[in-house]
Amino acid sequence: MRWQVEVFPNDVAHAMRALSSLLACGAAPGDVVWSEGAGMQGDLLGEAALLSPPVEAVPLRALRRLPAGFLPLAETVAMHAHPERFRSLHELAVDLAADPRRWRDALDPRRLALERTAREVRREIHKMHAFVRFRQLEEGDGEVRYVAWFEPVHHIVHAAAPFFAQRFAAMRWAILTPALCVHWNREGLAFTPGVDRSRAPPPDAGEALWLDYYRSIFNPSRVKTAAMLREMPRRYWHNLPETQAITGLLQEAPARSARMVEQASESQRRMPISVPRVVARTPRTPQEQLADLGRRARHCTDCPMASAATQMVWGEGPVGAALMIVGEQPGDQEDLAGRPFVGPAGQLLRRALQELGWPAEQLYLTNAVKHFHFQPRGKRRMHKTPGQREAEACEQWLEAEIRLVAPQAILALGGTAASSVLGRSAGVAQSLGSWWARADGVPVWVVHHPAAVLRRAESGAPGFEDWVEAMRPALQRSMA
Ligand code: URA
Repeated sequence: MRWQVEVFPNDVAHAMRALSSLLACGAAPGDVVWSEGAGMQGDLLGEAALLSPPVEAVPLRALRRLPAGFLPLAETVAMHAHPERFRSLHELAVDLAADPRRWRDALDPRRLALERTAREVRREIHKMHAFVRFRQLEEGDGEVRYVAWFEPVHHIVHAAAPFFAQRFAAMRWAILTPALCVHWNREGLAFTPGVDRSRAPPPDAGEALWLDYYRSIFNPSRVKTAAMLREMPRRYWHNLPETQAITGLLQEAPARSARMVEQASESQRRMPISVPRVVARTPRTPQEQLADLGRRARHCTDCPMASAATQMVWGEGPVGAALMIVGEQPGDQEDLAGRPFVGPAGQLLRRALQELGWPAEQLYLTNAVKHFHFQPRGKRRMHKTPGQREAEACEQWLEAEIRLVAPQAILALGGTAASSVLGRSAGVAQSLGSWWARADGVPVWVVHHPAAVLRRAESGAPGFEDWVEAMRPALQRSMA
């Protein structure tokens, strides 16, 4: 069976319902033809535009059954202009519906490609926030309105608009674009169809002032054209008043900067001039990939802990470390410092490692769950054991860390770490004293969590010396 689906630029919600319906119907991505309607919004043109399946029939239910991170990713990717984006999303959704564990693979090429696509969308939203330049227009009623012209490549006007409503809440303004315009009347946002560039407002006096200011802050001795182009890509230039001045300023820069050097004192002139180093582009090393992964994890919102915690706490240590030590989650101090194992339980672990003579450079320290999970009590934040949902949301990051670090063995501290690493419910008591094999072949050794050793009386954990001895087999195996 073949499916014909019409989606509408700027109507992400409609596209998500269509995707959800296709998933619920079991449509194969190869059997779906996605086309883009010219309409401003799907619901204006009517649901009849979607021939089949009926989009309202299965409102997002099928998408919500996928791992929690998929829907926000899909909503962002849907704003991209790439004609194949819906097919790619559908392919990933079908993969995940068949096996939700695939979401744990943060290095999956299909997911990585879609995350790159989402980054381009977010980047353009950021550029729109930075590069919209309002011009002042007098209306017939003597009221002032601020109007800007912008030409986004992607369908980002809806997503970018709330920023302007907040920032310029007291002004009446409109941003005109070829695909969709947005208006603010100090009370609410309204969207109207796109307009032609000829409707863009003419330059105003405020703009001349801004140009003078821009010229005055332009430092010819600090010209970094590549960085400038990265921050302000050329395609935005024709709508930015300051770019009229840039070409001239760049042409004058060498002469102006030479004059500045001339004017410098004799002693300053003898100072060595730093020559920019030309760095060859090298392929990304696993260490760089690991750092990239950590940056991506910082934006993860797959579980509710992300918004309560101060920050995501990433692992520490080198790629190729012989042993990876996996804890439960950052505690109060780790959450504030942004580093694993720096609080009381972490210090106990570090003392044990010292006693075992474990070389720090051969260890990678991380946690099963990357955000601090807590219960507020007055001013204090009391540790709360992460639930299955939190552990599952973080598994993608832990699995990617294990793949990139590729340790000889893993030491799991406590039940949460053991379950996350072994991918099944694995209590500490049942796991002690034996080696366990992961599906990828990495052997796992389980010991009590250091916090349990600190609270020995209630937890029944061993004393410090016995706990240290319990870790020794992991040392021997990883260094063998
Ligand atoms: N600190 C961490 O970073 N992880 C733990 O599991 C305990 C303390």
